[in-house]
Amino acid sequence: MSNWQKTNWRSKPRVQMPEYTDQDALHAVEAQLGKYPPLVFAGEARRLKAQLGAAGRGEAFLLQGGDCAESFEQFSADGIRDTFKVMLQMAMVLTYGAKVPVVKVGRMAGQFAKPRSAPTETVDGVELPSYRGDIINELAFTPDARIPDPKKMLQAYTQAAATLNLIRAFSTGGYADVHQVHAWTLGFTEGEKAEAYRDMANRITDTLDFMKAAGVTKDTAHTLQTVEFYTSHEGLLLEYEEALTRMDSTSGKWLAGSGHMIWIGDRTRQPDGAHVEFCRGVLNPIGLKCGPTTTAEDLKVLMQKLNPDNEEGKLTLIARFGAGKAGEHLPRLVKAVKEEGANVTWVCDPMHGNTIKSATGYKTRPFDSVLREVRDFFGVHQAEGTVPGGVHFEMTGQDVTECTGGVRDVTEEDLSDRYHTACDPRLNADQSLELAFLVAEELSRLRDPGETRAVI
Ligand code: PEP
Ligand code: CO
Repeated sequence: MSNWQKTNWRSKPRVQMPEYTDQDALHAVEAQLGKYPPLVFAGEARRLKAQLGAAGRGEAFLLQGGDCAESFEQFSADGIRDTFKVMLQMAMVLTYGAKVPVVKVGRMAGQFAKPRSAPTETVDGVELPSYRGDIINELAFTPDARIPDPKKMLQAYTQAAATLNLIRAFSTGGYADVHQVHAWTLGFTEGEKAEAYRDMANRITDTLDFMKAAGVTKDTAHTLQTVEFYTSHEGLLLEYEEALTRMDSTSGKWLAGSGHMIWIGDRTRQPDGAHVEFCRGVLNPIGLKCGPTTTAEDLKVLMQKLNPDNEEGKLTLIARFGAGKAGEHLPRLVKAVKEEGANVTWVCDPMHGNTIKSATGYKTRPFDSVLREVRDFFGVHQAEGTVPGGVHFEMTGQDVTECTGGVRDVTEEDLSDRYHTACDPRLNADQSLELAFLVAEELSRLRDPGETRAVI
């Protein structure tokens, strides 16, 4: 992309970004970040791109999940470990149940900046600027807390680096060894699906014992003992993204060094806007949220801009319409992709179109709506003859009560018990596992349409 500069977004219309009042402080932070090492490397981003390409062809499946918004206050090794564990469990259910390699991508190590539906928030007659994520301002409802502070970018970088360091250690240091399949179970998980998981883990352990006895461990040891785990976040705060963008010396291309994959949100995908301008120039795989207002015309322009060479795995389209709405919106976008002959990886985000306010005043998502949107998504792809390439969730390994429903049936009255999210409601560990079983079933049905048995 010869005419692209990492600063070009600055001359485009920008939305959902803070106005920093202290420009000197902002410049000092940008200069500092510019000297820090990138968090990820070009070879890793390319590898993820190749794997997302496989997901687009139906030869792998993307599992992308994590917090809606990472938080400075709730940052802890246990929190990272538990989310990582649930992702491993979900991936194992998909791999074992649906016999498909799973590409694991966390909404982690950089998921700090949030787009908001309104610029201000009013509580008891007091109006203040909205909270925009810990990298920008603070959740506390006071005028000072809501002032954007550029120094928060440095804290976000430090937390992202520490998170990634732990993830890299978990991925390769023995923790993710498939022989640990039982140990990934979280203490509090219970119910039918936790039981099904234990059964599956027993069978995996038996298989491993058999392989060991048969002497097949040697060559496969490394594959079984480590996982590849990638990071992703919404590329919303462009000052942060630009400051971490580096030239890859081997290819001469630009890398967004803040995470392996970055995505463009539903509110920032204007074809001539700043976010698309930034994302079109980096070599990383790019996600693009597609919502009810995405038109076929815009999608065609965006595909051309974001993936001009029509590379496989470069562009992931993340559909988020709401339960019962995929049938209305997804077919026109699938057709637009077909008309262009574009290579994309289709992924379902069943969270962001299903947020409601409970009678008890909490923002929540009914688990049934989440399940329904996943089923709708698979149904449309089956009807269109296209490939459902993955799922994208907001989830946590913590035992929270943020989404209603699921086997342990969180009710609207329960929401206040453990409602900890800094932004949108997340699936808890039980709900995440339940969802993984449903997705595995959908995937197996695709591979084997006549088969109606449960997969595990
Ligand atoms: C998100 O993924 O957290 C988000 C804000 O999504 P969307 O842009 O699809 O609303
Ligand atoms: Co969210």
